[in-house]
Formats: sequence, structure tokens, C-alpha cells
Amino acid sequence: MAILDRLRSRTQGEAEAEPDGESPEGRETPEVSTGNRGETRRRAEQRRQKAHQYAELKSRVHRKLFDHIDFTKLGQVSEARASQDIASLTRAMLREEEVLFNAEEQQTIVTEIQNEVFGLGPLEPLLRDDSVCDILVNKHDQIYVERGGVLELTPDRFLDDAHLMRIIERILSAVGRRVDESTPMVDARLADGSRVNVIVPPLALDGPCMSIRRFSEDALTAEKLVALGSVSAALVEVLQACVKARLNILISGGTGSGKTTILNMLSAFIPETERIVSIEDSAELQLHQDHVVRLETRPPNIEGKGQVSQRELVINSLRMRPDRIIIGEVRGSEALDMLQAMNTGHDGSLTTIHANTPADAVMRLETMVAMSGFELPPSTTRAQIGSAIDLILQVRRFPDGRRCVTSMREITGFDRDHVESHEIFGMVPDGVLDDGTPRLVLAPTGRSPKILERLRTYGIDLDVSLFEKKELISSEPARGATP
Ligand SMILES: Nc1ncnc2c1ncn2[C@@H]1O[C@H](COP(=O)(O)OP(=O)(O)OP(=O)(O)O)[C@@H](O)[C@H]1O
Ligand SMILES: [Mg+2]
Repeated sequence: MAILDRLRSRTQGEAEAEPDGESPEGRETPEVSTGNRGETRRRAEQRRQKAHQYAELKSRVHRKLFDHIDFTKLGQVSEARASQDIASLTRAMLREEEVLFNAEEQQTIVTEIQNEVFGLGPLEPLLRDDSVCDILVNKHDQIYVERGGVLELTPDRFLDDAHLMRIIERILSAVGRRVDESTPMVDARLADGSRVNVIVPPLALDGPCMSIRRFSEDALTAEKLVALGSVSAALVEVLQACVKARLNILISGGTGSGKTTILNMLSAFIPETERIVSIEDSAELQLHQDHVVRLETRPPNIEGKGQVSQRELVINSLRMRPDRIIIGEVRGSEALDMLQAMNTGHDGSLTTIHANTPADAVMRLETMVAMSGFELPPSTTRAQIGSAIDLILQVRRFPDGRRCVTSMREITGFDRDHVESHEIFGMVPDGVLDDGTPRLVLAPTGRSPKILERLRTYGIDLDVSLFEKKELISSEPARGATP
């Protein structure tokens, strides 16, 4: 009889037999259609109870084990030895349980407990699942993942806050970082390139909280983004030319809207001959050129010293003879140095900014410049922005998870009160969807952009038809651009 049956016989006094070889969680029992709904419900309820009892058994053994383990000593022996010790201790504890386990059942539990002690516990299967791109641990018993752009709650959970904290510490100590009450927020890059953010009490009110943005080896290239409907082929052609002609491009979008992905796509258009310096808070750009210097900011150490900010890195990068400066995301006072660099010969720079519209992006840049400590009159700041930035790309994440470029604007000038810009590609209506809502697609606005002159000086003659307004009557199903 399988573990959970025996548990159930003990807890419910039932002795109902199930076929041997069933997984302990009872997840693999095939649903047999008896034609009787009541029977199907009863079996589903039994399976649910089994899974619950199994989870309880595991937690019980797990807790007991943690009370017995001296973690400081565990770190002093080899992992193989420690793993063996954990296995014997787990087996001894299972013997103390009133239920008898066969060898196979014991091994299943031992492996799971070893995963908890040496691995990342409930995160292990999620990290192995390639379809998961974000893992969001809100609290010990609430883990969400993002798959295909959509958030879903998982059944996985940590035992308690202490368990979650142990796993967080394991993740951070592997990259030489720590989190505690005095440093309650940490942003770090894991060895595999994934980005992790941890925030713990007293700042996080419901216990430790962790967000992991998985690093994907499989970058979203321009071809893939076109196939996904995130950007049109015409826009890719224009953007490729703009990067080659060293335009300064700002990618604006909300959180998780795909800014870094578009930045990556653009960076691939930079010619191999140019020297690139990239500056990031936690490096996630995938630059495939050879001539690249990657810089990453450094947080303060335990005594609050040694911090190196993005601003310092931007200033330093100017002394490194860069052909291009790529700033992963402009967030603060480095904005002024970045704009000055763009205005003084370091053109062809690329960056992203957190903003919901191109107008907001300009306003945020103004605010960031104000944070730099120089009291520049607003008109001067606008002049800096207006002459530095050439293009603003807006990206957006739609409720169904798709991410799209929704606008390309060119900055055409500035006056005392405004940074002037014109939309070259934007969302336009193209028929209606099945549910009656308007279908929007990215299309040229019909305006001939000023950048064409600049492109010509680089020997790039883009076909003007790329910018012509076309009749859009498409029978294709809506892809990629419908809010
Ligand atoms: N066009 C797209 N289609 C499908 N998935 C995408 C697309 N763009 C980005 N993603 C995925 O969405 C997630 C967020 O993307 P990305 O890191 O580029 O967003 P972001 O705006 O830079 O996020 P953040 O605000 O955290 O910096 C990633 O897992 C990425 O692989
Ligand atoms: Mg980003």
C-alpha cells in the first residue's frame, strides 16, 4: 500500500487499497470515468487529501530535521558527506513515524529533503522549468510565476518565513551578498545571469519577499519579435538604420513591458567595429559583439561604504574611449551626465526609462536631471533633452501578456516650455475584433521623418514607402498590437 494510503488508514481508519507504484502525491492516478459524478468527485477529494497529508508528512520530517541539523557544521564537510548524513537522519526520522515506508518511498522523501537542504527547495522545479520567466515569492506560502506573459499562482510553498529566509540567504551568499534588518533590500545578479530582488521585514510587511527575473539564453532577436507580433518588420528595418546612423534612442515602458528586450534587439545592430561600454545595475544585457566592456554598479558594503553608482560609472566610461554607451536603465542623477555625453560626441547611445508614455519619459528625464544637484533652469534641461535624444520608442505590456512597441517618436526640437516630438509609427485602428473592440496595429503615421537626412549622411537611403500611410484592411487574426 502506498504511503498516503497508509497515512489515510491511520488518520481516517479507512483501509482502501490503491494500486502500488502510485506517486506519493497521488497526482498520477488516472481518472477512470465511471459515469458516476459522485464517484469521480469522491476520488478527486481523496487525491486532494492524499496530497495534503503527504505535504504535511514532509513538512513534519523537514521541521524535525532542521531542529537537529547544525548548519555551521554542515558547511564544514563536503557536500557528498553532508548529503549522506542528511539521508541517514531523514531515514531515522521516517522510522519514528507511525507509518512504515518501503525503500522506494523513503528514497523519494530523502531526495526531496536533500533538495530542501542543499538546493532551493520549492524553487527548484520552477527554476528548471524553461517556460517560467519570472518567479515572484510574495510570502512563504504564496509563489506566483509568469509564463507566456501571464501571471499564475503555483501550489508550491515554503514551510514558513524561516524556511524562505534560509533559501534567500543561500541564493544571496552564493553571489557574495547578504540581506538582514540593516540591509533589508538587495538587488543581485545570480551566477546564471538571472536577476533577483529581495526585500525583507521591517520593510516587507508580510515576511521576506523575493522576485527572480530568469535569464534566458535564448534571446528574443528581431526575427523572433517580429514573429511574435511585438514589432513590425518595417520598424525593425528603420531601427536598424537608426542604430547604424548613431541616433540616441530612449526606450520607454512600464515595469516588465519588454524595455530591456528591445534594448538587446537594438544593441545587436551596433557594428562589430565599435567599442561598446555597457552600464547596468545588475547586468542582464546580452551583447554579442566582441569589443564590449561591461560595467555594473556596486552596492554599499556592510559598513555602508564602497558604493559605486551608475553616475560614477557613466563619468568613468567617458574616459574609456567608448564608441557607444549603453545604460541598462536610466534611473537617477546619471541622466544629466548621460545627456551631456550624448550632446558632446558620444552619440549612438541607447538606454531605457520607466515611463508609461513618451511625454512621461521626457518629464521623468527632467526630474532626474533635477536630482543631479545642479540647479539648471527647466528650459536648459529641456534643451539638453531635446538636442540629445533623437528617438523615443514606447513599449507596452498588454493584459494578455503580449509586449509590443506601440510608438516611435522622433524629437524634432525644443523651446522654453516643450520638447517637441512627432510620431512616426503609432497604433492605428484596423478593423474590429471578434468581441467588437477596435483592433489596433502599429503602422506609419504618414509623416516623413527628419532622421532621413541624418541616415543619408551615413550612406543609408531608406525607402520612403516605409513611412507612407497605407490602407490597412487586414483579414489576419489580431496579433501583437491590441490593447
Ligand atoms: N515581446 C516580447 N514577447 C514575449 N516576451 C517578452 C517580450 N519582451 C519581453 N518579454 C519577456 O518579458 C520579461 C520582461 O522583459 P524585459 O526584462 O525586457 O522587461 P523590462 O521592461 O526591461 O522589465 P523591468 O521593468 O523589470 O526592467 C522577460 O522575461 C522577457 O523575456
Ligand atoms: Mg529592464
